[in-house]
Amino acid sequence: MPGNPTSASPDRSVAASNVLDRILVLEMVRVTEAAAIAASGLVGRGDERAADAAAAEAMRQALDDLYMDGTVVIGEGAQGEAPVLYVGEKVGGAPGKGPRIDIALDPLEGTTIAAKSGPNSLAVLAAAEEGALLNAPDVYMEKIAVGPGYPEGVVSLSRTPTENVRALAEAKGVPAEEILVCVLDRPRHEALIAELREVGCGVQLIPDGDIAGVIAVTDEETTVDMYMGSGGAPEGVLAAAALRCVGGQMEGRLLFRNEDERLRARQSGIEDLDRIYALTDLARGDCIFAATGVTHGTLLGGVKRLKGGKMTTESVVMRASSGTVRWIRGEHRY
Ligand code: FBP
Repeated sequence: MPGNPTSASPDRSVAASNVLDRILVLEMVRVTEAAAIAASGLVGRGDERAADAAAAEAMRQALDDLYMDGTVVIGEGAQGEAPVLYVGEKVGGAPGKGPRIDIALDPLEGTTIAAKSGPNSLAVLAAAEEGALLNAPDVYMEKIAVGPGYPEGVVSLSRTPTENVRALAEAKGVPAEEILVCVLDRPRHEALIAELREVGCGVQLIPDGDIAGVIAVTDEETTVDMYMGSGGAPEGVLAAAALRCVGGQMEGRLLFRNEDERLRARQSGIEDLDRIYALTDLARGDCIFAATGVTHGTLLGGVKRLKGGKMTTESVVMRASSGTVRWIRGEHRY
């Protein structure tokens, strides 16, 4: 997928949103570029907070250059927990005048990766009409995702990992041993990984960054067939927005570790705490997804600081209604 301009709409039935038409899709990339460049100055410094704060501040400023009346629905935390880009914060340069847009964002997805200069940290955002993105609380979400080209419902959270691997293998026309599943490398996934190994498929363990992990299933180059396991719910919504644009299937189910997390979900307006969300429940209608690489990864190259005060960035911006995917290489002076 990287470097390969595509224009294949996975979901051409989605009506283009007049509201989104009024914001400049390509301008979204300026926002993720700004965040990635700010974070890149702190890559490998071992300071996750500083890198995240720099990215968030830069993203906040860049959002205000967009002609929109935006609201952060997925952001850096609750109001009072995060200095900028908290959930509910108004962003955009045209409050009360511009199109009303909901924004889900993660100025630095993979803070630990960036702090250690590892692969796949990204600056990401998704934009949609008001109310179209699930206002996911900051809890875990169990996720399952596969790329485009499979029968609807080929895998589901309502089935066991073994059943899902076998169903996907059958749909792909290969033995289960040829399926590669991407999973976050976490102790909580011990049983899942053991079951997958028992089925005989390959397991690609990633240290962090499950937005890139989910998107990897849409890119044949990665050879990843399926994403499974739990990660952040906000990251789940961002990944869903990307899948809405490039194709593929995904389901998510919120996971709660305690009463406080259940309360937070109810406060975000979620009534059925056990619900399995389909892709279009996570991100409805038309939406835009943009990302810029902070460090080098499977989806995008990272920010490069070159001689002579030059810097390069790699970004992607996609839209669900058109299925257009634009890869953008930026050269910047600093
Ligand atoms: P941060 O950018 O907030 O550090 O998130 C990185 C990440 O790996 C996400 O991609 C993933 O959804 C989440 O953390 C998983 O959470 P945990 O590290 O608690 O398993």
